[in-house]
Amino acid sequence: MAESGTTVLDNPLQEERRGERMPNPCNMVIFGASGDLTHRKLFPALYNLALEHLLPPEFTVIGFARRPYEQQEFRDEVKASINQFSRRKPVQEDVWERFQQGIFYVPGTFEDPEAYKRLETIMQRNDKERGTGGNRLYYLSTPPHAYADIVRNLRILEHPQDNGGDGQPKGWSKIIVEKPFGHDLSSARELNDLVHETFREDQVFRIDHYLGKETVQNILVFRFANGIFEPVWNRDHVDHVQITVAESVGVEGRAGYYEEAGTIRDMVSNHMLQLLALTAMEPPAAFDAQAVRDEKTKVLRAIHPWQHRDEREFTLRGQYGPGWVEGNHMPGYREERNVAPHSLTDTFVALKLYIDNWRWAGVPFYLRTGKALPKRVTEVAVQFKRAPFSMFRQTATAAIEPNVLAMRIQPDEGMVLKFGAKVPGPDIAIRSVNMDFLYGASFDVQVADAYERLILDCMLGESTLFTREDEVQAQWTLVDSIIDSWKQQPEPKFPNYAAGTWGPEIANRFIERDGRAWRKL
Ligand code: BG6
Repeated sequence: MAESGTTVLDNPLQEERRGERMPNPCNMVIFGASGDLTHRKLFPALYNLALEHLLPPEFTVIGFARRPYEQQEFRDEVKASINQFSRRKPVQEDVWERFQQGIFYVPGTFEDPEAYKRLETIMQRNDKERGTGGNRLYYLSTPPHAYADIVRNLRILEHPQDNGGDGQPKGWSKIIVEKPFGHDLSSARELNDLVHETFREDQVFRIDHYLGKETVQNILVFRFANGIFEPVWNRDHVDHVQITVAESVGVEGRAGYYEEAGTIRDMVSNHMLQLLALTAMEPPAAFDAQAVRDEKTKVLRAIHPWQHRDEREFTLRGQYGPGWVEGNHMPGYREERNVAPHSLTDTFVALKLYIDNWRWAGVPFYLRTGKALPKRVTEVAVQFKRAPFSMFRQTATAAIEPNVLAMRIQPDEGMVLKFGAKVPGPDIAIRSVNMDFLYGASFDVQVADAYERLILDCMLGESTLFTREDEVQAQWTLVDSIIDSWKQQPEPKFPNYAAGTWGPEIANRFIERDGRAWRKL
């Protein structure tokens, strides 16, 4: 639920602003301000919010990182990033002029308590001079190994019960934690405990940027705002579900992180399981943070436990060797800088999962994701069972394809429903045709970046699109069990697919032995 914040809404104009989702002013502190994510995503998102008048004029952002920037130097660099990465560019000078007045920089190391005292001084000054109202939003945009130092030091700034020392509430405090949230279940628990020493659960916002994507949210709207799909959304009518997150890029200079994570932690443990949860969850009783996350957690917990399974029937991993992607040569994963020459890190994963509940018992969910695949495409496809009896058996219809509903997350955002239609002519010939909905054609607006939505939601105290503690734990429980099962197997022979192909050769057999096939995307 959105919170009303500390501003007293005492006139109709302010009421109207709140209706437009205007958050209260705050100091937003970005830890890791010189990093890639900050420049590619966070500042462009903040600028676009400012451009759309969705940030209050008092909004202030403080960059915190090791690099010794001068104030103006930092602002110039932020402007350059916005010009490079914003969905709307070049920067509109009048908006930038106002926006930049609220950008500050504090140099310091994450472990140095003195740096946090300097930060506190600046925040208090902003409260007085810029009217930031004692509200604070901390954003952890650093490599995960820095989280513990930062959270420990934030305890210096954050007094228990959020009060300013005089018994009066000093405003709200929130923390956004970037993924990965832990490396496995036990480290995720440790991080949770640490964060909870300073912040209550309702102050913690764990980002999974897939949840901020319009098309991902549309899965919920599609399922629960329309009466006609829910009756067929179950084991009686669905043959199987395929979730694909294909990327054409390689590891893009992030090998240090990737060597530790692999695709299973980088993509499956969060984005893919969230797509699965939204597709498979029961209808929540309300569109609020508690109800939606309760249902997602329930379905994640209902995924059939891994023990006693033949690992090879249910999981498949791969790693790319050299090849050609979209006309360009791509070196193999093991040739990337900072990758071990005999690395066994997975860059491709396919899974077959079953959900043990009344709705989905016996319906396989096939997941596949990988780097260096032929194209970038993300979709959730629900394949329905064939008609129970075909009266067209004697005609050229035996090969009629099953109905599929594909929800295209990116690119070409939209939906396709595939069904058989009669080919015009004297015979009964049937061909599969598509009924198409394209976002771009139906809504004449540029879709906001996921980070715009998520940062705004956080400021408003709206946590539906952030992952809850128990949800993250359910995700790690599953992923840990998969990784454990891999450890019991002989070492994989990597590389086993060429960059620019749809994963290892055996990926086809993985699904074909069930009498099914991957969708050609
Ligand atoms: C990130 C992963 O979370 O998601 C990256 O760490 C991946 O490896 C990225 O490339 C994909 O996001 P998107 O929005 O481009 O699909």
